[in-house]
Amino acid sequence: MKEQLQEIKEQATAAVKSCDDAKELDALRVKYLGKKGELTAILKSMGSLSAEERPVMGQLANQVRQTLEAAITAKGEALKAAGLEKKLRQEALDVTMPGKQRPLGVRHPLNIVLDELKEIFRGMGYTVVDGPEVEQTKYVFDMLNTLEGHPAREEQDTFYITDDILLRTQTSSVQIRTMLKNKPPIAIISPGRVYRSDAVDATHSPIFHQCEGLVIDKKITFGDLKGTLEVFAKRLYGEDVKLRFRPHHFPYTEPSAEVDLQCFKCGGKGCPLCKGEGWIEMLGSGQVHPQVLINCGIDPREYSGFAFGIGLERIAMMRYNIDDMRLLYENDRRFLVQFR
Ligand code: DAH
Repeated sequence: MKEQLQEIKEQATAAVKSCDDAKELDALRVKYLGKKGELTAILKSMGSLSAEERPVMGQLANQVRQTLEAAITAKGEALKAAGLEKKLRQEALDVTMPGKQRPLGVRHPLNIVLDELKEIFRGMGYTVVDGPEVEQTKYVFDMLNTLEGHPAREEQDTFYITDDILLRTQTSSVQIRTMLKNKPPIAIISPGRVYRSDAVDATHSPIFHQCEGLVIDKKITFGDLKGTLEVFAKRLYGEDVKLRFRPHHFPYTEPSAEVDLQCFKCGGKGCPLCKGEGWIEMLGSGQVHPQVLINCGIDPREYSGFAFGIGLERIAMMRYNIDDMRLLYENDRRFLVQFR
């Protein structure tokens, strides 16, 4: 029996030593120390021993039991510690590792000038409003004093959805929407996309951007328009900028003017950019036609106003010396990163 005990001790100790898994260790515990375990079996058979042998063997068996219990407990703890160590190592965060580079995008030149434009007009007390691009003909033309058959309507050929719904050709439609919704005093700008069936070239695109402006109040004069546009141009292009008001016709303004900016490239002498003119057209403007006020329920004897429509592409092109409008739409990174 002594040999048996010795053998169990050796076998079990070796098995516990080489065990590297908690489940396996538990199986060993059952195998040797469990109710039906090998050591227990020996203890049970102790009855057949003589009275002298019994205490000796009993003591030995208990020693073996204690040794095994201690070995299993120690191994259990070691396995637990190793497991934690492993987990920590797997989940470790290497703070010295180089991060992933996320390149910062840049604002599009059109957005840069638009943001500046909004800033300038907000500074003068204007509100920025929005209007739909799919619009009714009555807002784009009729109520702007441009009835069916008017030549100005034919000039702005566009994309019709139905006979009286179209992609707007001008942001001027927002003038009407604004006057129908709000009572004077009114001072708004409304930037947005407009559409015309124009072929693409260096200065034309079927989709482009405008910014409309409208001021309605008592005693608003053409002088207010001129002063406003001068402040605007100087803030945008610098104090030296020169403006030229050229008489024009728009059905919704009277008098009307197109406003030119002295060519930034040649300083007015005439060059290919300004087509030898020395001036570059920047916007259309005028005093709001009394009929337009009447159409919107505003009494022209009490109120007057001015309006203007700025081509945003043109502003950006002049600002950054861009000679081809297509560059603004191609989204070529090499072009865009220059505006960082
Ligand atoms: N809507 C005109 C265009 O697209 C620009 C314009 C001219 C807007 C005169 C106005 C204005 O508000 O008063 O060419």
